[in-house]
Amino acid sequence: AALAMAGITLPAFAAKPLVIGFSQVGAESEWRTANTVSIKDAAKKAGVTLKFADAQQRQENQVKAIRSFIAQKVDVIAFSPVVESGWDTVLREAKAAKIPVILTDRDVNVADKSLYVTLIGSDFVEEGRRAGRWLVDYAKKQPGKTLNIVELQGTVGSAPAIDRKAGFEEVIKGNPQLKMLRTQTAEFTRAKGKEVMEAFLKAHGKNINVLYAHNDDMAIGAIQAIEEAGLKPGKDIVIVSVDGVRGAFEAMMQGKLNVTVECNPLLGPLLMQTAKDVVAGKPVQKRLVVEERVFPAEVAAKEFPNRKY
Ligand code: AHR
Repeated sequence: AALAMAGITLPAFAAKPLVIGFSQVGAESEWRTANTVSIKDAAKKAGVTLKFADAQQRQENQVKAIRSFIAQKVDVIAFSPVVESGWDTVLREAKAAKIPVILTDRDVNVADKSLYVTLIGSDFVEEGRRAGRWLVDYAKKQPGKTLNIVELQGTVGSAPAIDRKAGFEEVIKGNPQLKMLRTQTAEFTRAKGKEVMEAFLKAHGKNINVLYAHNDDMAIGAIQAIEEAGLKPGKDIVIVSVDGVRGAFEAMMQGKLNVTVECNPLLGPLLMQTAKDVVAGKPVQKRLVVEERVFPAEVAAKEFPNRKY
């Protein structure tokens, strides 16, 4: 009113900022924290009103959050689905309310692909392949030696756990040097990574040659378990993990982790731009894949100062 009295009128879009309801998986890893910071910062910079809900790794909390966003009539719903399946009903409700849905980071498994506009995030199968390729090259340097692998999987039913397992298996399949000994979930957390690795070590001890962890946090937890068992992580047990967070670079610089396959969490700016495009009626690609690299321990010290998360 004060502006109007002074004769100043604002354009319509300035009066009503875009409202995005975002349901985050939780705070299970260093990666996730960086992802949350990226989304919150980008919203601020883009002048977007962000309604943020933390699902604490539970699908039912995400469903509740999405229903609450529908009731609040937000302009766009975005979420990173904890697991792939079980989304049809709530996404149909969003569609009926004419609220566009953008997936970030993780995919959903729905028969009707029109239930979401686009998925912004990594190619997890390719990440798994990259981890596998690094290991195949490593094995080549020790011809004739069999390497027994243990695998720490991410959250059961989540896209990154399913896809990173599949991509890795695709590459190591049929390689006579590489043998999968055990595979189990450790829910993408450090605490579980340590716990499950302890169990692996108890059962197989020095027979374990390689750990493949679906994220750096589980690898870092496992490193602790390996050290407590009197073994040298990165040497007695070669460790391959995914994400490329600072903690992984620190572990590599200490010689405790051999390689990390990058997974880019900095999705905030692209999410804000895409949400604006969708609301403006601009065409948006069904899949937006982010660029990623592989960082072996040899480059860790050089790359560390450039890391943003
Ligand atoms: O969906 C991405 C995965 O989720 C990251 O690799 C992991 O750290 C996170 O918890």
